[in-house]
Amino acid sequence: MTERRATASVNLAAIERNCARLRAELRGSELCAVVKADGYGHGAVQSARAALQGGATWLAVAAAQEASELRAAGLREVRVLVMGALSTAELAQALAAQADVVVWDERYVEAVRAAGGGRVHVKLDTGMGRLGVRDPDRAGQVADLAASAKGVQLAGLMTHFATADECADEHFERQLELFTPWARATAARHPGVIVHAANSAATLRTPRAQFDMVRCGIAVYGMDPFGEDARARGLAPALELGSYVAEVKPCRAGESVGYGRRWVAERDTYVGVLPIGYADGVRRGLSNNTEVLVGGRRYPLVGTVSMDNVTIDLGAGAEALRLRGEPAVLLGEQGDQRVTAEQLAERLGTINYEIACGVSARVPRRYHYDGAPLDTGGPLDTGAPLDVQR
Ligand SMILES: Cc1ncc(COP(=O)(O)O)c(C=O)c1O
Repeated sequence: MTERRATASVNLAAIERNCARLRAELRGSELCAVVKADGYGHGAVQSARAALQGGATWLAVAAAQEASELRAAGLREVRVLVMGALSTAELAQALAAQADVVVWDERYVEAVRAAGGGRVHVKLDTGMGRLGVRDPDRAGQVADLAASAKGVQLAGLMTHFATADECADEHFERQLELFTPWARATAARHPGVIVHAANSAATLRTPRAQFDMVRCGIAVYGMDPFGEDARARGLAPALELGSYVAEVKPCRAGESVGYGRRWVAERDTYVGVLPIGYADGVRRGLSNNTEVLVGGRRYPLVGTVSMDNVTIDLGAGAEALRLRGEPAVLLGEQGDQRVTAEQLAERLGTINYEIACGVSARVPRRYHYDGAPLDTGGPLDTGAPLDVQR
């Protein structure tokens, strides 16, 4: 029996359609679906399969372990790029998983050769300031070395943008101006390499950033790379986070709810208790700071988010008592109402990425295809609260 208290539903059809939507932006470039961090909280393997179904031809992860997990799940043919920095042991693991790895220094090329060889992508740091080498000449030399080192194959040339999502920022154009001639010249010396730079924002921002392949994460999951309304860009969120109203109780004017007494009822009302909390990914910063959907209506989350519970103000009407046992949506849609990752991110002063990645491992993921259940996790707990017949 799966739990009802906190559930993440993932619509794999949405991931498929988001990939198709992204592909429609491309002029012949390949789509690499970024499924690191357990597919931005959606489940890496399931998301990867849906993305491939939607037209992605590559996968990217951050860690060697993530590449191994994809292979172990049967995703054996597809090219997987490990984008993160790797220790010697992690490099060996990535190469054992037949993954491509990123290098930017002669030492890394040598490490790949010493580990028995593999496919490498040379990273030019055009202004992100993290991994990669800043000097284009040096990056070119690393590429030449990779192409000539025994067992090593120069597979790609890449960079990563720092401000693709900030449309007024000129840094993006400067990065593109640095990368384009370097990639062209280096690719001319090494025909067949794959040139790639764009994340979701850059992919949607300009075809000039798309090159041979784009590496999209956030948009694959239907969130907006610019923090705006994903729907307006033709993307649909795949993830919903829900719970249910486990208890409804009267709260008199002047009574408080939750830790620290951060909410005190101004009038007599009913409070609903939902067994989901910050240990599930409902951030504590949402205390008195979001709305929850029940029965197609919005109710304010009141009081402090606890580890395992949140409370909502259901209002004074006796109909509140009938909401006991009703499903509650903390992220997602109900009727014509929606709570989006972008809205929650704005409330919290963060980005939609962190909302999705923050749904914790304690929350079971239920997969469906436009509502048709897909997983075999046992019968769904339609979970009427104890002693309530519905
Ligand atoms: C190197 C690299 N490429 C691509 C991506 C995908 O970015 P996005 O989720 O904004 O599409 C990431 C994600 O952080 C990344 O680190």
